[in-house]
Amino acid sequence: MLDSKVFANQLINWYEENKRDLPWRKTADPYRIWLSEIILQQTRVAQGLPYYERFVEEFPTIHDLANASETEVLRLWQGLGYYSRARNLHACAKMVVDSFGGKFPSEFDELLKLKGIGRYTAAAIASFAFNQPNAVVDGNVYRVLSRVFGIDDDVSTSQGPKVFELRANELLDAQRSNLYNQAIMEFGAMQCLPKSPACGVCPFMESCFAFNHNKIEVLPVKTKKTKVRKRYFTYLVFHSDAGIWLKERGKGDVWQGLYDFYLLEDTKPMGLNEVIAALYKLGLTHSIIGEESKLYEHVLTHQRIFANFVKIELDNEGARLLSTHSEMKQYTLEQIDVLPKPVLMVKYLEDQSF
Ligand code: ADE
Repeated sequence: MLDSKVFANQLINWYEENKRDLPWRKTADPYRIWLSEIILQQTRVAQGLPYYERFVEEFPTIHDLANASETEVLRLWQGLGYYSRARNLHACAKMVVDSFGGKFPSEFDELLKLKGIGRYTAAAIASFAFNQPNAVVDGNVYRVLSRVFGIDDDVSTSQGPKVFELRANELLDAQRSNLYNQAIMEFGAMQCLPKSPACGVCPFMESCFAFNHNKIEVLPVKTKKTKVRKRYFTYLVFHSDAGIWLKERGKGDVWQGLYDFYLLEDTKPMGLNEVIAALYKLGLTHSIIGEESKLYEHVLTHQRIFANFVKIELDNEGARLLSTHSEMKQYTLEQIDVLPKPVLMVKYLEDQSF
């Protein structure tokens, strides 16, 4: 079995030779490190980088972020998905400003108390910003450790992650936790890939359990797959010469705090009958049903959303009825541009001319 010192040294050597030049690796500022890690939990480096740069530019300090409105933060996050992360990011910035004078705490346990900071992010900030001896554990780390050391605990159970965290902390080079953690993340992202890892040029080729036992495909073990629910949306795009009606989405569903059109939902695709019934309920039987869009598909972790859009033109009376009988408000295209919206809607709007 590979000795933990040898493992750490080989990993760090590999990192020094192969690492990408990324902005959050050139700073020890916990604010920037935290920002980058929250963004990178949501997406890959290539897609996350421009978001990171926009956040840093718009909000150079944690005070700027804390003072922003939630709508501004959501708009900047638009396209990354999982918008509760953005709301937590904002709430966390406020906590750090209000309770810690704008300075992140340096201890893992203290970091863990902050909004939106779980065990991975707490370890990342503690090690990258403060060189504290906490090992990061995420999907990259499960993959690397399960394969190299042949750990077959199931990562989708409550026990599995604990086994990995213990092992990860035993393997950590505590004096160089910063380097070690960056190295294992980079190794998981660049070399020990989920599909077709680059085993032919791997420094652990001789000792890697999975490589030598033909278990690359089965490690890490994850038995519980996420269930995906299908949802069918029909958006009624109420419009007049003065603009388009939107509402802010509330609690209890995806996209809280984002703005969208009037939504009809079913567990199966809907047709014109459902549109007419909805207009009838709203007292809008005199409005003009216009163009229906193609079907747009949007994939989330637990949901697959199919949406189409139907334009409905309102006259003055219809506009008055809609504004009094629903929470919809009218916005101009310029106003809509700066509101945070689901990507599905951004794509639809890009395809339209109003
Ligand atoms: N993914 C999440 N954090 C990362 C980091 N610090 N480097 C590379 N990929 C990452």
